[in-house]
Amino acid sequence: MSTPHGTPPAPAEGGLLARATNIRCVYGGGEKDFTAVDGVSLELRDGEILGLAGESGCGKTTLGNALAMIATPPLYILSGTLEIDGESIDLSTLSVADLARHRPYRGRTVSMLPQGAMNSISPTLRIRNLVVDVMRAHDRRFSPDEALDLARDRLKMLEMPVRVLDSYAHQLSGGMKQRMITVISTLQNPRLLIADEPTSALDVSSQRMLVEMLLAMVEQRIMSGVVFVTHDLPVLSQVSDQLAIMNAGRIVETGPTRQLVEEPQHDYTRTLLSSVLDPSEETRRRGRARRRAEGTAGRETPGHDPSGRGTTGQDAPTRDEEVGTR
Ligand SMILES: Nc1ncnc2c1ncn2[C@@H]1O[C@H](COP(=O)(O)OP(=O)(O)OP(=O)(O)O)[C@@H](O)[C@H]1O
Ligand SMILES: [Mg+2]
Repeated sequence: MSTPHGTPPAPAEGGLLARATNIRCVYGGGEKDFTAVDGVSLELRDGEILGLAGESGCGKTTLGNALAMIATPPLYILSGTLEIDGESIDLSTLSVADLARHRPYRGRTVSMLPQGAMNSISPTLRIRNLVVDVMRAHDRRFSPDEALDLARDRLKMLEMPVRVLDSYAHQLSGGMKQRMITVISTLQNPRLLIADEPTSALDVSSQRMLVEMLLAMVEQRIMSGVVFVTHDLPVLSQVSDQLAIMNAGRIVETGPTRQLVEEPQHDYTRTLLSSVLDPSEETRRRGRARRRAEGTAGRETPGHDPSGRGTTGQDAPTRDEEVGTR
């Protein structure tokens, strides 16, 4: 599949898709620069999903912005290269000229699905207008009709309801909004998608639909690889081929997901895994006691929410069907 304005052929599946080397980022402008990413190197194979995990504030979004070449002051990339598609791109942004140098790669070579993006769409905007705005912001050569044709084809390919294009953002559930933003941010068939916390604000059912859609997109070669950023290790361990664990601006451990989850080598990885995947006996005991007190013991099952509002108190999963019948 290629865009009307051409996309270079995808490299063979299984080979190296991208290699980032020695990325260093600082937030400047204050009294003292703050180093948020401190010499990170990463590799991603073609066709794979790399999970980037680490606690809040460790630098995941900053690293994602550097890779997607969308850093703007006060964030400066002091050093770093990204090898992708046979090119070696200098990621550093120390001047305005550097920002312009990266423009051709944005959205096309690397696309960013920003953290919290679904909350930043104006509720009164029709999705079709969002499609046109985003596509034309990347490439003025897209006419509105071309952009919409592309979006319709993509939705059909992903078995999603085309009529969502006519909806206003406020009519869509959180899950559908997030899937639409994912579709829109990959319309140019980027080599690499950086998905920053794409599932964090979603209920369990919407999380599953988004993850399945991302997997289908990689299988269908819409993009050749994904860096999936989240602090949600259970989600990552299901979706990622490789994991990279980040702490205080550095990658402390990388490896195949299963190996890293089963045999973590680094103390920080062990702490992160145990804090998420293995609640302490005290926590379990208190949870059981509370459920007994509420008379709900044994009734909770993953993916089932008696309130119908999802685990985060967001939209009920059924709203997708209300808006999105084909
Ligand atoms: N605009 C900014 N100016 C100064 N410091 C910033 C700015 N944005 C982020 N930081 C700092 O950089 C560090 C890394 O932030 P970043 O947003 O990359 O973390 P994160 O791992 O994505 O966190 P989260 O999981 O909460 O999204 C944090 O210490 C944060 O306070
Ligand atoms: Mg973040």
